[in-house]
Amino acid sequence: MRVIILIILVFPLLALSQEIQINLKIDTSTTPNQYDTDLLTPEFHKKNREALRQLMPNNSVAVFFSSPIKNRSNDVDYEYHQDPNFYYLTGLKEPHAVVLIFKETQEFNDFKTNEILFLQKKDQKNELWTGKRLGVKGAILDLGINTAIENDKFLNFNSDFKNFAEVLIYELNETVKNTSEKGDLYGLIQSFKLKTEKQPNVNKTNLPIYMATLRQVKSNEEIALMRKAITMTCDAQIELMKALKPEMTEYQSEAIVEYVFKKNGAEYPGFPSILGGGENSCIIHYTSNRKKLSGKDLLVSDIGAEYHGYTADVTRTLPVDGHFSEEEKIIYNLVLTAQQAGIDSSKTGNKFWEPHQAATKIITEGLLELGIIEKSYHVQRYFMHGTSHYLGLDVHDAGLFGTLQPGNVITVEPGIYIPEGSECDPKWWNIGVRIEDDILITPFGPENLSEKAPRTIEEIEALMKETSQFE
Ligand code: GLY
Ligand code: MN
Ligand code: MN
Repeated sequence: MRVIILIILVFPLLALSQEIQINLKIDTSTTPNQYDTDLLTPEFHKKNREALRQLMPNNSVAVFFSSPIKNRSNDVDYEYHQDPNFYYLTGLKEPHAVVLIFKETQEFNDFKTNEILFLQKKDQKNELWTGKRLGVKGAILDLGINTAIENDKFLNFNSDFKNFAEVLIYELNETVKNTSEKGDLYGLIQSFKLKTEKQPNVNKTNLPIYMATLRQVKSNEEIALMRKAITMTCDAQIELMKALKPEMTEYQSEAIVEYVFKKNGAEYPGFPSILGGGENSCIIHYTSNRKKLSGKDLLVSDIGAEYHGYTADVTRTLPVDGHFSEEEKIIYNLVLTAQQAGIDSSKTGNKFWEPHQAATKIITEGLLELGIIEKSYHVQRYFMHGTSHYLGLDVHDAGLFGTLQPGNVITVEPGIYIPEGSECDPKWWNIGVRIEDDILITPFGPENLSEKAPRTIEEIEALMKETSQFE
């Protein structure tokens, strides 16, 4: 392996820290690619930091903290998931970090910079337990951050926050655990509070607006990753359609879905998989997935693979025995027609809520005609959620809910849920139907990124007759 390291700049960073700031160019063309080769590039994250600077007011600094490590129980933590804004702006997936993004280049004692990432230091012993760390050199080399400093230097870092016109932050997390390690997230937040205590220039309102402005418009790199996440989610729906049969349990259907995710390279589901059969099809965010399915049940499968940070969110509703009953067909086709109306109005220049209005109108008229409701406003009994949300790094992604514009990715997911005991003919009871697709807004109209997963009754029934690899 030939590695050329070119040190362009070396100068002391802080008298205090003895850190070095370096620009490194590395030729890794002969390194075997045993890990992911389609990760977002440092240029992508740099471009996002620059775009944020464009939105920030003069003489301001934006401050972002990494996500806390969340404890599951005793010695076991949940898998670490970086804060989406932090990831979007830096690409760092490690905890115990804070990044400062300055509108203008700042001069410190002996260096100038427009951004500083404070992150965990390299530590052989700890890395043996919890995995490799980038360290300051890695942050500069792999992430393209201009300046990186070890996190335990943040407390004594000489940045005078009161000199800025605005210090832009999100609400600080007050529940972070104190690990007693110098430079841990608890320490970083406490240090920041000390540095900015009682300062009138701290602004918690505008940064979420700036981030929503940026994140709601996906770049080509993001759309490429979303296509991968969505395609593997469609493949999971297709595999489930082939494998589903009576006596299977909800968790076995979940296993098939998540097998397909992992097999195709997803890191994990982007949210807990919803596999709700029969009465559970009427529970919107059902996740326990413990029931044994009967041939008479409808199964709502609301799932999404997460790939390199980006999540899909696709719902299909399937008859467990492969055949929709007459009542199920009527409700299913009503939801499908409403969904198509929602997709058709997912157009550049339309208001964010127009797909919801289009879908609600059709469901209301349909339920009135079927005698399931008597008044239009009763529609909320059976369709009680919104039709759309932005999709991206979060399943319910950041966005401004204003006018739809090219690069937005939204879901269109109307549903009808008629639990047992509802005020209507019992023949409708326990029918829960949701159909959800992921729609890219383009200048030429909506593009259904999840169209690979069949949606019509005929297509679904045909696919359910096919042989599964899980027989
Ligand atoms: N899977 C959650 C939702 O559809 O919003
Ligand atoms: Mn959704
Ligand atoms: Mn969903």
